[in-house]
Amino acid sequence: MTGRVTATRGNLPVELTSFIGRRRQVQDVKSALTAARLVTLVGPGGVGKTRLALRSATDLRRGIPDGVWLVELGSLQDAELVTKAVITSLGLRDELSRWPVSRLIEYVASKRLLLVLDNCEHLLDACAVLADALLREAPWLRILATSRQPLGVAGETVVQVGPLSVPDVDGRVAPDRIAETEAVALLLERAREAGAAFEVTWTTRPPWSSWPAVWTASPWRSSSRLCDFAPSAWTSWSNVSTTASVCS
Ligand SMILES: Nc1ncnc2c1ncn2[C@@H]1O[C@H](COP(=O)(O)OP(=O)(O)O)[C@@H](O)[C@H]1O
Ligand SMILES: [Mg+2]
Repeated sequence: MTGRVTATRGNLPVELTSFIGRRRQVQDVKSALTAARLVTLVGPGGVGKTRLALRSATDLRRGIPDGVWLVELGSLQDAELVTKAVITSLGLRDELSRWPVSRLIEYVASKRLLLVLDNCEHLLDACAVLADALLREAPWLRILATSRQPLGVAGETVVQVGPLSVPDVDGRVAPDRIAETEAVALLLERAREAGAAFEVTWTTRPPWSSWPAVWTASPWRSSSRLCDFAPSAWTSWSNVSTTASVCS
């Protein structure tokens, strides 16, 4: 992701691909953040925690005067550097990179801002300690974290993130409605973005337990079948774009 939003304060990236579904969960996350000052989106890798966090935070940013600040921790290896990562993400690197945590607390104490701590799982303890310290001292601060496990901090609200909706496991969804399920909509969208248009063309409505259902390419690629998907593939959305490009 490259673009940065400039109209409001913060450093949230502009979404470069369409966001599919999850309307209710976006509302749930936003509501949770009005009631709790630490909300952690928890779920397996690739399920969509980061996208859900970014979409929810983007929706909220106009009501947050000191901005929404994303701290990407996925590539950070050293737990000692979590505080520095927050300082850097707040855009304070030049003046303040040597601030100890107490000075960071002092900085955020009077601010009304939302920190998005993304991908905390491998730095769980460091994230928990920092979140706890910041929340205790900064009364208007809110934190939205994503992690495979909860941070375990007092006052934390955990929102479990599951897979996008999939067609009924018994195959009861009518073929002409199947593209309305979130998982299939995402696959079709990514296939379109990859330059290939596809349609669902199964004739017999097989139960999901006996996939493959048949996905065929649009007429200009009519000889190539997109892919045969096992139902389990629908639970990991990091696979979708890869699968679409590999199979198209
Ligand atoms: N609701 C969604 N709409 C569109 N793309 C999504 C959605 N959820 C996840 N993705 C895509 O799936 C991939 C994995 O999602 P991500 O949020 O990074 O998962 P996680 O943070 O749980 O590991 C990313 O490419 C992301 O853009
Ligand atoms: Mg993530």
